[in-house]
Amino acid sequence: MVYIAPSLLAADFSRLSEEIVKIRRADMLHVDVMDGHFVPNLSIGPAVIESIRKKTKLLFDVHLMMEEPLPYISVFRQAGADIITFHVECKDPPQAVIAAIKASGAKAGVAISPKTPVSEIGQWGEDLDQITVMTVEPGFGGQSMMVDMLPKVYKLRARFPQALVEVDGGVNLDTAPLCKAAGANILVAGTSVFRAEDPYLEMRCLAI
Ligand code: DX5
Ligand code: ZN
Repeated sequence: MVYIAPSLLAADFSRLSEEIVKIRRADMLHVDVMDGHFVPNLSIGPAVIESIRKKTKLLFDVHLMMEEPLPYISVFRQAGADIITFHVECKDPPQAVIAAIKASGAKAGVAISPKTPVSEIGQWGEDLDQITVMTVEPGFGGQSMMVDMLPKVYKLRARFPQALVEVDGGVNLDTAPLCKAAGANILVAGTSVFRAEDPYLEMRCLAI
């Protein structure tokens, strides 16, 4: 059983409410937030999340690619985030970010970029609800999956059995079986779902 989380980054931003209808049967919606510092790109912020929150009951899985996420945790929670994921490589202390996320009432996740070893997630990983293994360099959709990152999924599931492990980047019909074989619980899929002729069918095929 694997959950599918379409990534809004690949949607047509000029018609977000229609795009959300297309993926209404997804398990959750993955929302990429970029600050132009942690990654060399900017994406959407709390105002957009708040607007789309009114259009859907889907769980919002908010991925913060931010150098300093701590001051913004409650803002994203109030905007409608259900799961808030920060990067282990950010400047804020992980324990403090996790505490802020939990205090906000959201579930807490950490993401790990390709160059970072899983050992960077310390004992504090036991407090996480979710761990995201980046299988592309964060910052852009539509990249090819670095399949050599998948052993991290297996290792993290073994080490932190309480957390769901998510794979983010380059998931498509060819790579999804590899992610599932590695033990992934959640597959983020931007391009493959939003650019599919039939997004519902694509999600069903990714999940099989
Ligand atoms: C990359 C983002 C991903 C991205 C995935 O920085 O974290 O969530 O949207 O897009 P695809 O599925 O197109 O690789
Ligand atoms: Zn993401």
